Amino acid sequence: MQVGLEAIGVAVPDTYVELADLAMARGVAPGKYVDGLGVTRMGVPLVDEDTVTLAARAARMALESARCSPDDIGLLVVGTETAVDHSKPVASYVQGLLGLSTRCRIFETKHACYGGTAALQLALDWVRSGSAKGRKALIVCSDIARYGVGTPGEPTQGAGAVAMLVSDHPALVVLEAGKTGVYSKDVMDFWRPLYSKDALVDGHYSVQCYLDALEGAYRSYQEAAGDAGGEGAYSDRFAALVYHVPYGKMSRKAHRHLRTLDGDAAPDASFDRLVGHSLVMPSQVGNIYTGSMYLALASLLSSAPEDLTGKRVGLFSYGSGSCAEFFSGVVQDGAQARVKALGLEARLARRRALSIPEYEDVMRAREHLDERPAADAAGSGFRYQGTRDHKRIYAT
Ligand code: HMG
Repeated sequence: MQVGLEAIGVAVPDTYVELADLAMARGVAPGKYVDGLGVTRMGVPLVDEDTVTLAARAARMALESARCSPDDIGLLVVGTETAVDHSKPVASYVQGLLGLSTRCRIFETKHACYGGTAALQLALDWVRSGSAKGRKALIVCSDIARYGVGTPGEPTQGAGAVAMLVSDHPALVVLEAGKTGVYSKDVMDFWRPLYSKDALVDGHYSVQCYLDALEGAYRSYQEAAGDAGGEGAYSDRFAALVYHVPYGKMSRKAHRHLRTLDGDAAPDASFDRLVGHSLVMPSQVGNIYTGSMYLALASLLSSAPEDLTGKRVGLFSYGSGSCAEFFSGVVQDGAQARVKALGLEARLARRRALSIPEYEDVMRAREHLDERPAADAAGSGFRYQGTRDHKRIYAT
């Protein structure tokens, strides 16, 4: 049985901040953010958007793209590190908004940016084991990345969700059973204490932790695949490499490290060929935590000019704290056309730029969103309206 991604959906906020504007407001050379970090724009959600609304919008796109009925879903997991409640999972809100069946197993996973991959691997095994009994899994990665205003992490924020329909009809990408390498280690590189809306990070240390995890997971993948050795760089067995993208430069550092492990004396030379297309959309959206690597995969499938049919793609997911996984998939016939048909680039182009004062106002307002009284207006289209009797209210 072949199992993998049948469809994907992507949701990003309707508004963004231009990184060059942010740099000027912070007294930093724009080149540092745009070239030094490799980010042009970062998605910033207004007050009617949260992790739930992003997840629901992405999930709806995935279901519609596969013409899948809500009743076909037997497992819904939302991976997030920016949940909206200590107890009720984002997945339950999504179930309600999408009208999924009551005969569906539903929960939330957390492990920093790795939470979505943990959910995806579980879903793959659920389908492979036969427990799915013909039904599909819906895995949603949804987050709003937030660091303190004026901190080094500020230009690496972002927001968005990626939903993946996982089934034994993997029209987009077959994910290869058994070909996966894991690395985990207790490190304090990035965290968010329970009392804080802003993430805290030991920035340069987090970069080193990411690279150490990449090395461990890549080695572990080669052992699992049992095909190390042979001529040339091991990573040339992949037509593309998709790394977790907290910011574009991190993918460049990751690729340099991986090619150095391969014994490549010119480790940057293959960057544009193997990695470039995966960074088109992330550079416009910023870090979306759990969804970042999957947005990069969507970017690859949507923007790579060459036909990737039948080609192998390497995927590296990293979550601070830490857990990482290197795994691989094979692109299916028609996958690129299906992802292009989602019109993701056009959606990104339609967003509105926020001025820096507008952005700072939104950041302040978001601190109190959990207690905001619900607006009277009915609204529509999966929008957060506020709370009533301590319950979150969403417009459907
Ligand atoms: P910083 O210390 O302010 O920046 O913050 P820097 O001084 O390291 O400069 C950044 C780059 O810009 C450097 O390039 C400079 O040379 C260059 P590099 O040496 O790295 O190649 N630069 C310029 N380039 C062109 N023109 C100029 C210019 N000036 C400087 N004028 C840092 C950087 C990443 C530390 C900060 O943004 C941060 O803390 N970000 C958040 C943490 C993060 O994203 N870590 C990534 C690894 S951990 C991870 O991915 C997990 C995560 O997603 C969370 C999760 O799992 O949930 C974060």
